[in-house]
Amino acid sequence: MTRAAKTPDHPQDFALRVVAWQRLQGRHGLPWQGTRDPYRIWLSEIMLQQTQVSTVLRYYGRFLERFPTVTHLALAGLDDVLALWSGLGYYSRARNLHACAQAVVQQHAGVFPTEATVLETLPGIGRSTAAAVAAFSTGQRVAILDGNVKRVLARHRAFEHDVAKPAALRALWTVAEALLPPQGGMEAYTQGLMDLGATVCTRRRPRCEDCPVQADCRAHALGNPQAYPVKTRRTQRRARSSVLLLALHAPDGAPAAHLRRAGPEVQVLLQMRPPRGIWGGLWTLPLFDDERALDQALAARGLLQPLRVQALPPVQHALTHLDWTLKPCRVWVTPSEQGALSEGAGQPDAPQPEAGGWRWMGLDTALASGLPAPIRVLLEAEARQAGPSP
Ligand code: ADE
Repeated sequence: MTRAAKTPDHPQDFALRVVAWQRLQGRHGLPWQGTRDPYRIWLSEIMLQQTQVSTVLRYYGRFLERFPTVTHLALAGLDDVLALWSGLGYYSRARNLHACAQAVVQQHAGVFPTEATVLETLPGIGRSTAAAVAAFSTGQRVAILDGNVKRVLARHRAFEHDVAKPAALRALWTVAEALLPPQGGMEAYTQGLMDLGATVCTRRRPRCEDCPVQADCRAHALGNPQAYPVKTRRTQRRARSSVLLLALHAPDGAPAAHLRRAGPEVQVLLQMRPPRGIWGGLWTLPLFDDERALDQALAARGLLQPLRVQALPPVQHALTHLDWTLKPCRVWVTPSEQGALSEGAGQPDAPQPEAGGWRWMGLDTALASGLPAPIRVLLEAEARQAGPSP
């Protein structure tokens, strides 16, 4: 081992080791790695935020097929974008993606920028994402600092401050900048830091024996890499439960005839979520705080004996700060009840549904719309349940 490799503050050597390791041990052959097209790289970086590569692989190609250029994306309706994003979660990313594409068309004549400082001015692109797009598309020498990289650097330096605090984060950015390769190799270096964080310097069980920067990692020397990054404030996870109204209507007859016969002709009652907050801008089943609130909403419309409502098994849904128990309640409604459930609930056929508005939709149309993952799973089960109609 050379003296330099053992010296904790030897930035050049740090970068060289990360680059060499990435070339041999890092991730290769991912669909967004074989391109210099900033649009394709940007799309991958947004999809990869808080989402695993294996998940993104199921969405990336499909999305590019539908929106091959930033102009195609800018011209699409937000509903179409949300529909293709459906299941990836963190839907504000999809809304920002659409807004960003429109900004690129309006402000940059449809030419996607590659300069980090310009990228950072666009909707949904923060400093680290801007740097990643610039490094991957042109090799620009700019530092990234996403969640995984914060962990790698905080451990390497045994960084004692909470990076949730702005001053500490600024100090870690300075570290990230000091460690950049002096020249060249930005693509492998940037990917290498991401790969180290995702595959070696993992949150729970770091594999220090496989790490190219172990020799001068202070947290490793202290024997406690898991203690970093330091957190002084724990985020409290909340528990919440909600009742979902799964109201179904079959256009051709009395409800009893349709029991266990859901198919594409069956309609489901959906509600548009407000643009901000959980599931913003997506379609969901109408949500209530508890069964009483559901009963009251139905009674207010002069509807439904509670006995006809069938409780389905609850579904657990984990969000960043929330453990959410969703309790679906299924009810088949008659044609007159269907009308009552639409009344006063927004414009049933308005092209741009209002937030909070209820709308009946064919199951097929619903499944082609922007739905949160657990709602999609429920509706897919309904669509499958009966198979083809007789
Ligand atoms: N996470 C964020 N960006 C990534 C990339 N380019 N490859 C793999 N994981 C990532």
